Amino acid sequence: QNKGIIFDLDGVIVDTAKYHFLAWKNLAESLDIHFNKKQNEQLKGVSRVESLKKILSWGKKSISEERFESLLHQKNKEYLGFVDQMDHSEILPGVLKRLKILKKEAYPIALGSASKNAKTILERVDLLSYFDAIVDGNEVSKAKPNPEVFIKAANLLGVEYQNCVVFEDSIAGIDAANNANMVSVGIGDQEVLQKANFIFKDFSQITDAHFNEILNTMKT
Ligand code: BG6
Ligand code: MG
Repeated sequence: QNKGIIFDLDGVIVDTAKYHFLAWKNLAESLDIHFNKKQNEQLKGVSRVESLKKILSWGKKSISEERFESLLHQKNKEYLGFVDQMDHSEILPGVLKRLKILKKEAYPIALGSASKNAKTILERVDLLSYFDAIVDGNEVSKAKPNPEVFIKAANLLGVEYQNCVVFEDSIAGIDAANNANMVSVGIGDQEVLQKANFIFKDFSQITDAHFNEILNTMKT
C-alpha cells in the first residue's frame, strides 16, 4: 500500500481527552482559575507545557519556574491515576474494527501524538502491535498546529505526505494535518472541527464506503 494512515491518540483512539480535561480542571481550580469546555478545545492536541502556559494566561497568573515544573508534575500524576484504571473498554467505538481491517489490508499505520504517555496508554489497551511507527511527545519539539509530528510519522512510514490521512479530534491537530498537506479527518464535533476535510462523530460512523472515499481524495 502506498497510502499511510496516521492516528492521533487522545480523543481519537482512546477516551482519554476527558481525563486530561479533569486533571487540568482540578489543577486550574487549585490556582483559582476557571475554564470552560470551549476553552478546553484549545488544550486538545497541545503539549503539556503549552497547555499549562495557556491556563496560566487565562488566569493572568505568572509563577516561578520551579512552581511551573511542579504543577506539570502534579497534573501528570493525577492524569496517570486515571490511566491506571483504564482497560480495553476505553477504546473508542469502531477503532479496533478499523485497525484490524487496515492491518489485514497491509496499510502502513502510525501514531502521531503530542503525549509523552502515548506508549504507556497503547500498551495498557493492548493496541501497540498495530502501529508500524510511533511519534509522540518525546520526539517532537514543535507542538501542533506545527506539522512536525505528522511529517515525522510519514517519513517513518516511507509514505509521501499528500498520501497520508490523519485522524484527529483537536483543532490544533486538524491544522497540523492541513499544514502537512495531508487529508484531515475530524473525529468529534462538526462545529469545532470545521477545517477538517471530513468529519465524523466517531469511527463507528465511518463505513467502508466512507473510508474508500477518504482515500480516493488522494492523487495516487
Ligand atoms: C495530547 C492531548 O494528545 O497530549 C493533550 O490532546 C495533552 O490534552 C497532550 O496535553 C500531552 O499529553 P501528556 O500525556 O504528555 O501530558
Ligand atoms: Mg487528540
